[in-house]
Amino acid sequence: MSVNQSLKPLTTEVNEAGNISVGGCDLKELAEKYGTPLYVIDEDTLRGVCRDYKEAFKDCPNIKMMYASKALCTSAITRILDEEGFGFDTVSAGEIYTVYKSGVDMSKVLFNGNNKTRREIELALSVKIGRFSVDNFYEAELLNKIAEEKGVKVDILLRLTPGIECHTHEYIQTGQIDSKFGFDLNQVDNIITLIINEYKNINIKGVHAHIGSQIFELKSFEDEVEILIKEIARINKKFGLSLDEMNIGGGLGVKYTEKDCPPDVKALAEAVTNAMHRHSVKIPAIYLEPGRSIISTSGVTLYTVGSSKEVNIDGKIKRYVAVDGGMADNPRPSMYQAEYTADVVNKPNFQKNEKVTIAGRYCESGDILINEIALPNLEPGDIICVYNTGAYNYSMASNYNRVEKPAMVLVKSSQSDIIVNRESLDDLIIRDNIPDRLRK
Ligand code: LLP
Repeated sequence: MSVNQSLKPLTTEVNEAGNISVGGCDLKELAEKYGTPLYVIDEDTLRGVCRDYKEAFKDCPNIKMMYASKALCTSAITRILDEEGFGFDTVSAGEIYTVYKSGVDMSKVLFNGNNKTRREIELALSVKIGRFSVDNFYEAELLNKIAEEKGVKVDILLRLTPGIECHTHEYIQTGQIDSKFGFDLNQVDNIITLIINEYKNINIKGVHAHIGSQIFELKSFEDEVEILIKEIARINKKFGLSLDEMNIGGGLGVKYTEKDCPPDVKALAEAVTNAMHRHSVKIPAIYLEPGRSIISTSGVTLYTVGSSKEVNIDGKIKRYVAVDGGMADNPRPSMYQAEYTADVVNKPNFQKNEKVTIAGRYCESGDILINEIALPNLEPGDIICVYNTGAYNYSMASNYNRVEKPAMVLVKSSQSDIIVNRESLDDLIIRDNIPDRLRK
């Protein structure tokens, strides 16, 4: 079993005090010490996933692991992934800057995205980023122009849309034909001709695709690898090039609830290598860029229970229990109908005799974290731990309702360290400005 198949961080236990602990840290104590909502990241689980990936792909020559930093990008997380030997997929000046400032060798970083700005391109060039994944005609022309101004030649991959429809939420599919990302296969010859004849400051190294996220079907990855390999062989033959890099993106799923059965990382490795070996062409270097499956399972979010309300729907009682966070720290349930599971930190061995709906504290009816979950009877002050919140929670968090973003702590061997400070009320107004005519 690999870590992405686990619902909870690997170090999750019930301790002597009768509370749930992660990384040897009592979650109730963490809630008291740092306040709630609180993001908690378990370092051993995170390093365990990295080991899973390295082990699974160890017989695959030329494999390069990149972490899709959009899943969770903070300086300490970047340090851990760097120590584990991962490179980084970045999509903004902010991600590039975070990775750069945390001391990463920038030749291991890729800059991806469908509308990179001049400022971002200039930043990426100034820190000597390893690769650009060029998404469209406009970008190719702009990148070439900026590279020419600076007198540099940039190594790129071409972002392709392989036309694969995989089984996941519509908003997180990316590889299908009707997509805002990448070149359609019928545009490839045009862009390559332009690069060869006109864009002299661009050097094509290979191709890049990403077919979607939270994928459970390995067949989609096999199809992707086959399409990309064939495309590389075709391009090389037709244009006399020697492209030898293939970035197959991320997308492996994780287990948010008991009913999710994502494949393990070994099975992914087998699917990818088998698809590669079905062709007699020279095997290119393969880049993987998982995000969710790297960081999701390591993360849990702690909330404190507050108010509750019972409604009578046609004689059936439904109980809402509100916590002190919700859609601003985890927008996934309201955006994608994502499902999560949870436990009560201070009541792990109590009978789960009540079905409750965990509501957030934000002013929207849709702010429901978990619908109808069986839990022990909840009282104000109880601490709830929602599992699998490492990916796309903090990275998509907002200040909706002018609420401060939570802190994040890293736990390991019974030690906890703040890796993101809780925002303060002053943080919320620090960038506000009152024009002179409105001042009191
Ligand atoms: N590479 C590229 C080019 C991507 O666009 C993405 C994710 C990844 C890699 C990483 O995919 P992963 O391994 O994390 O599935 N906010 C959504 C997920 C959006 C994913 C966007 N692209 C969510 O919360 O489910």
